[in-house]
Amino acid sequence: MSIPTVTLANGTVVPWLAFGSGTSLWQQDASAQVASAIKAGFTHIDTAQMYANEDSVGAGIAASGVPRTELYITTKLDRLPAGTSVRDALVESLKKLRLDYVDQFLVHMPVDHPDLKQTWREMEAVQAEGLTKAIGVSNFQPKHLDVILDGAKVVPAVNQVEYNPYLFKATQPVLDYCKKHNIKVSAFGGLNPISRFAGGPVDPVLKKAAARLSADTGKTVTESQVLQLWLRKKGIACITSSSKPERLSEYVVVNTLPDLTDAEEREIDQAGAQAHHRVWATWIEEGL
Ligand SMILES: NC(=O)c1ccc[n+]([C@@H]2O[C@H](COP(=O)([O-])OP(=O)(O)OC[C@H]3O[C@@H](n4cnc5c(N)ncnc54)[C@H](OP(=O)(O)O)[C@@H]3O)[C@@H](O)[C@H]2O)c1
Repeated sequence: MSIPTVTLANGTVVPWLAFGSGTSLWQQDASAQVASAIKAGFTHIDTAQMYANEDSVGAGIAASGVPRTELYITTKLDRLPAGTSVRDALVESLKKLRLDYVDQFLVHMPVDHPDLKQTWREMEAVQAEGLTKAIGVSNFQPKHLDVILDGAKVVPAVNQVEYNPYLFKATQPVLDYCKKHNIKVSAFGGLNPISRFAGGPVDPVLKKAAARLSADTGKTVTESQVLQLWLRKKGIACITSSSKPERLSEYVVVNTLPDLTDAEEREIDQAGAQAHHRVWATWIEEGL
């Protein structure tokens, strides 16, 4: 099965669909789920120092038996304890993950780094050293990106943000900014309209698109899959997760489904714009 990809500004290629070790696996042993996700067909694993489970992610990757070169691994920089460097933190992650390099290393939260320019200079240095193939950010708003782009040698390749139809309106300025600077966007929380905010205005349009795709493909296409296709249509990588093996297969099948039509995408945009729900990084609502 060929897996849809997103190509970053530095030419590296990211599998569009990733399995994450945060949320329900936060501070939990993720080894079994990571190994199951890889077995189900995920080739991109998303983790973070903050999730406090990189060691079990490393164990899951090793247990999968899939060669390193066939996998794409993302981790994220947590706030740095006094006296430690970005390099110290990444070397520690690599040890836990049992890897020589990661594919993507992201600054997890702008608000956790009082001197963003200095943090970014250190990010550039670990990329130059080959400890990561690409560097990027997460939960960054335009004003945070402004700070690091001023004087940056390397433009962040990625901004990983919470995104789904209920953040369509609120996220547009970030998407416009990223497009202008060729920063690719990846999204977590893509399934929130179903998993956390069911009963809202997007429900009927998701159902309608799922019915159309089911009829066209002869397979049962679910509303979750439609939400993931909505991200793919926008060229946004999808960082998802599940504790249930059957859902892992449901997500991976999205790789084989056709795109939403322009009209379906627009209908979902418009329905999503009628509500606003953010789960993570709620400091964004306070303009921090
Ligand atoms: N950068 C950041 O700040 C940040 C923040 C949050 C998350 N993340 C990353 O993104 C990953 C995914 O995050 P996410 O959990 O927000 O992803 P998501 O794709 O929005 O949601 C996944 C959740 O949806 C549930 N789900 C799927 N289909 C469902 C359905 N039909 N009905 C009800 N629930 C359904 C799953 O529950 P089951 O387990 O029951 O299947 C799973 O817990 C994390 O693991 C982490 O790696 C990053």
